[in-house]
Amino acid sequence: METRSLGKYGPALSILGLGTWSMAGSWRYGWGHVEEKQALATLHRALDRGINWIDTAPVYGLGRAESLVAKAVNVRPEKIFVASKCGIWWNSKGKLRHDLAPAMIHREIDATLERLQMKRLDLYQIHWPDPRFPIEKSWRVLKKLLEKGVVLRIGLSNVSLEQLEKCQSIYPVHSLQPPYNLLRREAQETLFPFCRNHGIGVLAYSPLFSGLLSESFQPEIQSEDDWRRRDQAFQEPALGVYRQFVGKLKEIADSCHSSVINLALSWVTSHPEVTSAIVGARQPEHIDRILDTPYPDMTPRLKKQLLNLAANVETNIGKYKPPSH
Ligand SMILES: NC(=O)c1ccc[n+]([C@@H]2O[C@H](COP(=O)([O-])OP(=O)(O)OC[C@H]3O[C@@H](n4cnc5c(N)ncnc54)[C@H](OP(=O)(O)O)[C@@H]3O)[C@@H](O)[C@H]2O)c1
Repeated sequence: METRSLGKYGPALSILGLGTWSMAGSWRYGWGHVEEKQALATLHRALDRGINWIDTAPVYGLGRAESLVAKAVNVRPEKIFVASKCGIWWNSKGKLRHDLAPAMIHREIDATLERLQMKRLDLYQIHWPDPRFPIEKSWRVLKKLLEKGVVLRIGLSNVSLEQLEKCQSIYPVHSLQPPYNLLRREAQETLFPFCRNHGIGVLAYSPLFSGLLSESFQPEIQSEDDWRRRDQAFQEPALGVYRQFVGKLKEIADSCHSSVINLALSWVTSHPEVTSAIVGARQPEHIDRILDTPYPDMTPRLKKQLLNLAANVETNIGKYKPPSH
């Protein structure tokens, strides 16, 4: 698989990474139960087929995703790059809270390394800013962890340009993880130019709009505890508009002998600033389909056509508003 350098510091990451949110099972923002056997098979299939890095977080499955990653990665002979995060914690009832207090970050990295059964982590990212703390305060803690050698690279997710600038002025940011797909393009206006100028790698999350950009998405067959059942994008009237959009993407994908998914992934990875798109597969077959189907050539004409279709969606229902935790 093609690889790209994670910003100016590297290493070379495959242009598709594997995300572990959707395989992590049931919790407040879970996607429904996934058997461990199936999750591990998905992880191994991705690694067998050339994906060389995994994105996870403590909050995915309230620790379960990191434990799954440990079970898969630690039996592999090759080096797998593992990225995790800090900043969202939970209580005994599974209620989530943002917490980037310095003491909490120390506690979180210890728990993460224990679950991952690793001595150090390849990339540690602030998952979401904590409104109670200026981001610089938490960033300095990540810098300390880096200096101690507990983490090898540090990055940010879900930050504004202003927050990114503040962190960069304290210590170089190795990676940024923003949402980025055909229908969520905000990052390319402000954050990507800053990343380009400072050699920051971009790891695009939700490249398939959490499954919506796929011809097989059917909300009615998702399990009761799938978070998408509560999200406005996956309900009418938005859903109908998105489905029409996907229908048009399918016509284009068919004419290129591709699929809606590969068209959507091609669009994300064709942006020169994107290092890798994090795909949230939860079945081994997801990986096979993505890798066995041709990718369309993302010509300027095709890009324009896709952007026009996406602009129509926004005219109809406005921009997507993500759920707040
Ligand atoms: N930093 C953050 O705040 C943040 C936020 C969101 C995500 N992320 C990261 O980004 C990763 C990916 O984002 P995402 O989980 O939102 O999902 P995504 O990659 O946009 O979509 C994943 C979903 O697409 C469907 N899919 C994938 N491959 C398919 C295939 N070949 N055929 C049919 N359907 C397919 C599956 O839906 P079904 O399982 O329903 O079939 C799958 O669960 C996450 O796992 C996580 O690591 C980070």
